[in-house]
Amino acid sequence: MTQPPSLGRTRQIEILISGVGGRLPAVPVEPRRLAAEAERALSAEAWTYVAGSAGTEETADANRAAFERWQIVPRMLRDVSQRDLSVELFGERLPAPLLLAPIAVLGMAHRQADLAVARAAAAEGVPMIFSNQASVPMEDCARVMGEAPRWFQLYWSTSDELVASFVERAERCGCGAIVLTLDTTMMGWRARDLDIAYLPFIHGQGLAQYTSDPVFRKSLDEPVEALTGVRPPRTPASVLALLEQIYRYPGTWAEKLSGKPLAAVQRFLATYMRPSLSWDHLAWLRERTKLPILLKGILHPEDAKMAIGHGMDGIVVSNHGGRQLDGEIGALDALPGVLAAVEGKVPVLFDSGIRGGADVFKALALGATAVCLGRPYVYALAVGGERGVREVIKNVVAELDVTLGLAGLTSLAEIGPEALVERRTGSTSPRGE
Ligand code: FNR
Repeated sequence: MTQPPSLGRTRQIEILISGVGGRLPAVPVEPRRLAAEAERALSAEAWTYVAGSAGTEETADANRAAFERWQIVPRMLRDVSQRDLSVELFGERLPAPLLLAPIAVLGMAHRQADLAVARAAAAEGVPMIFSNQASVPMEDCARVMGEAPRWFQLYWSTSDELVASFVERAERCGCGAIVLTLDTTMMGWRARDLDIAYLPFIHGQGLAQYTSDPVFRKSLDEPVEALTGVRPPRTPASVLALLEQIYRYPGTWAEKLSGKPLAAVQRFLATYMRPSLSWDHLAWLRERTKLPILLKGILHPEDAKMAIGHGMDGIVVSNHGGRQLDGEIGALDALPGVLAAVEGKVPVLFDSGIRGGADVFKALALGATAVCLGRPYVYALAVGGERGVREVIKNVVAELDVTLGLAGLTSLAEIGPEALVERRTGSTSPRGE
């Protein structure tokens, strides 16, 4: 498959020619500037939620440090004039080895939230993984995407009935796979969020998959047990929070004023995480869907073997962008061990720390089949809406294309560990040689 013109090296020309007319890209190309502009565009709560990681944020640093440990060793004089970035994943050919990671509460970044991302992903042919914690129901996103590829990310709550309902809805929405996220059986210790005492879900944000679900809505007729004895102090801020919950709850004014919005938040908080989840539960999910199931958050080689043993179809090596466990292994550092355990039996995807095309190249060279882009597309959404997301996708893919060519390669199949060397003082020996 040849690259659509918007997805290849032509991106550089597009930017530079527009510059002749004085027009700059809608969002910065340079990753650090993109983050800095997003910080300016977002509210303090939104920036803290999106950019923050767990604890001292060592894991997020480890993610980047892991990329910096690998260096590309290019080969010369190899005719790289024709390049192909396409890859096949679960029977579908994608224009590039890139997906959009599931990200909660995109409504904090932009008014059009998941809809803007869905449109951008569809326009660029890059699959969007709908988050379980989205700001827009999956049906609405699917509608604006036409036939474009999309997957669904699942959090396994304490209600199996709700989990089954989400999976059925994802199937009806044309999702090509279920990504079961395993690393969030409880919420990470997010010091930045705790310091401003803010969680979007309590304000009724990021609950769209739930409040649009018949099983969840029915559960609101039953009494919800209080999560703790703590009640918010009665202040103007708590009244405002209640108004936010009412505003975000879908339905008629009668429903909005029925107490359901508060009940929805309480029900959600009481049920959305399931620390008791174990390998034994997977058979139940396996029986319920014919869609490929990928486990997201696998970092240990033994867990990778267990995933295959339990009939899973793929793995996403990820540490949730460092948001869950502080002091954890950098995700890229975990990739080789997982790949060795998987022995090519299922596709292994990767996320956590991807900021540009050269990062994608390194993850592929170590053996990943494809990668998921996370925070950078949220930053682009905040700065430039749908257009911003399209641009960041184009930029990452274009940089991958340029990196591939400059490394002396022409297709993903040619990218292997021999293209990398592990950074060691004085070492120049490519890996595998
Ligand atoms: C996430 N991530 C995430 N993962 C998931 O499975 N379900 C979700 O709802 C979310 N929500 C979410 C919100 C925000 C604000 C962030 C930054 C991340 C994790 C995400 O899918 C991915 O693993 C990370 O974003 C990868 O790290 P980087 O590359 O973004 O740093």
